[in-house]
Amino acid sequence: MAEISPSIEALLSEERRFPPSQEFIDQANVNDPAVYERADADYEGFWESWAEELHWFEKWDRVLQWDPPFAQWFIGGKTNISYNCLDRHLTGARRNKAAIVWEGEPGDWQVYTYADLHREVCRFANGLKSLGVKKGDRITLYMPMIPELAIAMLACARIGAPHSIVFGGFSPESLRDRINDCEGTVVITADGGYRRGGIIPLKQNTDEALEGTPTVEKVVVVQRVGDKFEGSMKEGRDIWWHDLVEGQSRVCPAEPMDSEDMLFILYTSGTTGKPKGVVHTTGGYMVGTYATVKWVFDMKEEDVYWCTADIGWVTGHSYIVYGPLANGATSVMYEGAPDYPDRDRFWDIVEKYRATIVYTAPTAIRACMRWGEEHPKKHDLSSVRLLGTVGEPINPEAWMWYRKNIGGDRVPIVDTWWQTETGSILITPLPGITTTTPGSATKPFPGIQAEIVDEKGAPVGPGQGGYLVLKRPWPSMLRTIYGDPDRYVEQYWSRYPNIYFTGDGAKMDENGFFWILGRVDDVINVAGHRISTMEVESALVDHNAVAEAASIGKSHEVKGQGVVAFVTLKEGIDTSAEMEQVLKQHVRTKIGAIARPDEIYFTADLPKTRSGKIMRRLLRDIAEGRVLGDTTTLADPAVVEMLKQQYEDEE
Ligand code: WT7
Repeated sequence: MAEISPSIEALLSEERRFPPSQEFIDQANVNDPAVYERADADYEGFWESWAEELHWFEKWDRVLQWDPPFAQWFIGGKTNISYNCLDRHLTGARRNKAAIVWEGEPGDWQVYTYADLHREVCRFANGLKSLGVKKGDRITLYMPMIPELAIAMLACARIGAPHSIVFGGFSPESLRDRINDCEGTVVITADGGYRRGGIIPLKQNTDEALEGTPTVEKVVVVQRVGDKFEGSMKEGRDIWWHDLVEGQSRVCPAEPMDSEDMLFILYTSGTTGKPKGVVHTTGGYMVGTYATVKWVFDMKEEDVYWCTADIGWVTGHSYIVYGPLANGATSVMYEGAPDYPDRDRFWDIVEKYRATIVYTAPTAIRACMRWGEEHPKKHDLSSVRLLGTVGEPINPEAWMWYRKNIGGDRVPIVDTWWQTETGSILITPLPGITTTTPGSATKPFPGIQAEIVDEKGAPVGPGQGGYLVLKRPWPSMLRTIYGDPDRYVEQYWSRYPNIYFTGDGAKMDENGFFWILGRVDDVINVAGHRISTMEVESALVDHNAVAEAASIGKSHEVKGQGVVAFVTLKEGIDTSAEMEQVLKQHVRTKIGAIARPDEIYFTADLPKTRSGKIMRRLLRDIAEGRVLGDTTTLADPAVVEMLKQQYEDEE
């Protein structure tokens, strides 16, 4: 199996180089390396020229107002991203071009042209208005990967009601917390969604969540699973999607939004137990996603582009819906699992729709590697001309497998680094310019000033490691944490004055390429999804058998990292295999399946500093079988030695 975390020395001595082919260069949307210097010399002008490619009801007066750490972009500009994703394409050949090609897990499918999508978005937007939704109201979406999810997003954006999408794999309690944090008034969900042949009971979960959400007035429910629905509708509160849109006008003018009006909130895990509501605004986010789709994915009129992410994460927001549609592209959307009904499902979809660009996560690539190359081999993948990855570091072996088995050893790979907070891709190859090397996200996108710095904020030299930071604002950066501006300042802008702290560690090689090493804070990256150690710990101590808990991320051959927890039970409660299962299930119920620990170790004590802080670093050393790091600050060094012994005995 793949070595998923090769040593940094092994990474930096990587010598394989893959320049783009002349054929690719010749047709690329950008192939002039001078774009980097030009953007660097005048980054405001660079972003302004991108904004000029889009539609604005009123032009901005100023490109950027930077009062660190608060940025405003395209000040005074009025626009609407739904207009830019739809109306802008309604004249000419794009009108009847496929905007969304959707496939459900059971094998059903639908194609929405730009004209279809515009009509359905307008009808639903009018439906929302009929429920009393007004500009500024927060709408929570808890939905499967069906076209109505994209329609609902674009409808919210159209009328200026910020959406907050909660991934369908989250628990009722996680949904409730997110609704309450932003005081959402309407929830949009479905009677269910398909996953590996089973049904995710989204409506029942919503009902449970809504037992503690005083602000919610209406629930709109898409009929997806029909007869298989085992829940019920609540009179006066719940309404079927198809009833709501029945008779609605197919025209709904797009609300002119201020460039800095909120477009959406997306909750993500930070270093505390409470997820943060990352706020993105209209103009800058639109410009960032539009520009990166055009240059990083080299988007062309005839491309069929497929991003395999779920729209519940930022990748789906930016690179299934907003970025591709703003470009007038054809975006493929798939509802289900990669191994259902068989392990070739992804490649079946690529062949069927003749996908030309595929964007997925290293974790999916590693799973496919494990399943074997016979699965992609069953399919004609010759349509593919560009591949992308996102979400976590990609080990060179997985990169090479992807290139060979999916890209036929012919096509460029873009390893794209970014975050929920950055809104769009910031470190990435440009496929018509960059000579790539497996495992490196290469260079900052033009106009982005990324650096790797030491503890004091001084840039490190080639071959050195440090913290990844961003030194200039960019249009799609988050503007704040919803309802908690102090946390925004504290979280991202306090370690170094006026510099954005990403939370990632990185190294720079001799060519000035970036190698992202992963989080340096208490965030675990499970299959490209963020979970905070504190969230898992709060879920564990919430169980009445648990006295204390600590959780860490441990290298996992497919998921990149898996959650491992160390738990001290209350006095008088015995450890058992059954208790281990109970606690794993408890975390799953409290947060969602992604947070479920792979392993739980019971321990009489946890390694702590004299001031009582749990030393997760030592727990990671134990779990990964390393020599223990510095233990001199521990209150009782014997605790960690005992724990290490116990862990090794149980392994
Ligand atoms: C964290 C952000 C951005 C969409 C998906 C995740 C890690 C992301 C890469 C990459 C190495 C990566 C970082 C980052 N990450 N892309 N190409 N190489 N690491 O969004 O949930 O906000 O997580 O994902 O650690 O901080 P997110």
